[in-house]
Amino acid sequence: MRSLDVFAWDKLSALEQQRLRRTPVVTERQGIYAERNGRRLLSFSCNDYLNLTQHPALIEAAMEATRRYGVGAGASRLVTGNHPLYAELESRLARVKATEAACVFGSGYLANTGIIPSLAGPDDLILVDELSHACINAGAKLSGASVRRYRHCDVEHAEALMTAHRVNHPRGLIVTDGVFSMDGDLAPLRELSELAQRFDAWLLADDAHGLGVVGGGRGSAFANGKAVDVPLQMGTLSKAIGGYGGYLCASQAVIDLMRTRTRTFIYSTGLPPPVVAAAIAAIDLIERDPAYAAEPLRKARNFAGAMNLPEPQSAIVPLILGETDAVLAASQLLEDEGFLVVAIRPPTVPQGTARLRFAFTAQHPDTEIERLSEIVRSRVSRR
Ligand SMILES: Cc1ncc(COP(=O)(O)O)c(C=O)c1O
Repeated sequence: MRSLDVFAWDKLSALEQQRLRRTPVVTERQGIYAERNGRRLLSFSCNDYLNLTQHPALIEAAMEATRRYGVGAGASRLVTGNHPLYAELESRLARVKATEAACVFGSGYLANTGIIPSLAGPDDLILVDELSHACINAGAKLSGASVRRYRHCDVEHAEALMTAHRVNHPRGLIVTDGVFSMDGDLAPLRELSELAQRFDAWLLADDAHGLGVVGGGRGSAFANGKAVDVPLQMGTLSKAIGGYGGYLCASQAVIDLMRTRTRTFIYSTGLPPPVVAAAIAAIDLIERDPAYAAEPLRKARNFAGAMNLPEPQSAIVPLILGETDAVLAASQLLEDEGFLVVAIRPPTVPQGTARLRFAFTAQHPDTEIERLSEIVRSRVSRR
């Protein structure tokens, strides 16, 4: 065997022993159902919070855009890939987020790994919530800045790090998920915004799981009534928006800088026109019907109430079981009952916190949520 393959097999067998080897399972989604291995399961593992991935208005918009502009952008946006739908999507996103401008990227991952190094370099300081998404950590690492992680949602810890280190760096950046992807809680954005202003630092919130779900659909900066001043509102079009792509909403100056300097914007092909058209149609629906956007959170709260869990702040409800074996067994038990709740294991979450992560969507039937909570309550042993 070639040394390359020996390397790969050794790595895989070590992961196998820890039950951490991953294999994608072919999954055919039909609305709230997912069919895999010949079984149709009610899915609580999709981030399709508003069930828009298969909505007729989005499909129609995507087909119309395909007929008009084709299936691909053909080049990066600074060359010839900037088809006319981009300007409309960007102005719609800026309006939703109440910023001067917006810039769309190829994905949320590409957004964070591009934006962060465009704003901070080796001389600078970045504070990151310890439970932030992997692509935030990747972006921070790529920047070469001095990166310090503060305890989850602990503003006092972030303040202590600012006090100790901010003076040594020309620029400071605080980066956090707005809604934490594996825990579902909200970042203390108001307090972080005040902290950032006090230390002349900039705040970036990743609203991947907030847009379309919290704050009347406008996201985590709008979650508690009055809008919080978050100058860098990043997010993705791949969850409640139902398609694909990432974005940053910010001032005109920042957006112009992104379009000029951000490597993941410059050196990557533009999104396909149908994806951009579908995102515009999704924003239309969310703006027209904020009551619908409130449904995933209502359903998450019903489930958590029945389970005696803390009241959720988003559509995501985690049930931490601890060890990988326990969570795999619980996931299998639910699958046997017709539910898809994928086991979430390290390194996606810290060691010892493997969990079931329930993601609620607008169209989950209340009766099925009740049945799910009964089964989990009676048959899954909690830590
Ligand atoms: C908080 C957060 N940020 C960014 C991303 C990446 O977004 P995308 O899937 O569009 O690359 C995700 C999930 O995928 C996420 O949960």
